[in-house]
Amino acid sequence: MNLKDKIRVIENFPQEGISFKDITTLLKDGESFRYTIDKFVEELDGKEFDLIVGPESRGFIIGTPLSYATKKGFVPVRKPGKLPGETVKYEYDLEYGSDSLEIHKDAIQKGQKVVIADDLLATGGTLLSTIKLIEELGGEVVGVLCLIELCHLNGRKHLSDYDVKSLIQY
Ligand code: PRP
Ligand code: MG
Repeated sequence: MNLKDKIRVIENFPQEGISFKDITTLLKDGESFRYTIDKFVEELDGKEFDLIVGPESRGFIIGTPLSYATKKGFVPVRKPGKLPGETVKYEYDLEYGSDSLEIHKDAIQKGQKVVIADDLLATGGTLLSTIKLIEELGGEVVGVLCLIELCHLNGRKHLSDYDVKSLIQY
């Protein structure tokens, strides 16, 4: 199955010059969505891990079916102010201003092995922040899965210490 064919590319969204990769066209096709999750499960074959972590919000879409399929728990990383318990926060710089993500302090125990799942690797900021949060709690990131990788942005250079797999490349 060619998953790339299922991605809709919308030019100049959300701003001029951006070529947006829209995964909703893949998601609404039941067979393609299932195939995507099956592919990720295959990528994880033989890997030992305890938890799947997904960054809000599209990481939830990829991470939770993967959690179901692998029978591992799911931990959300969220945008600030959403998680009700005690959290740790990681703030990262954007071209203008900054952004931050949070995780529950008790979401991961020291030494637990974690796989991260998200839809897209662009600059790598989201995945790197997610890694920082996991490591701050003492978790070990043993794999990073994303559906799409925008290779020209070279987000991978920030993730060179990790096992990063993408299913579709642009
Ligand atoms: C998008 C996408 C990835 C991230 C990739 O999320 O879902 O998580 O950008 O970009 P990066 O590699 O430059 O960090 P976004 O922050 O737009 O939020 P969403 O998932 O809630 O739509
Ligand atoms: Mg996202």
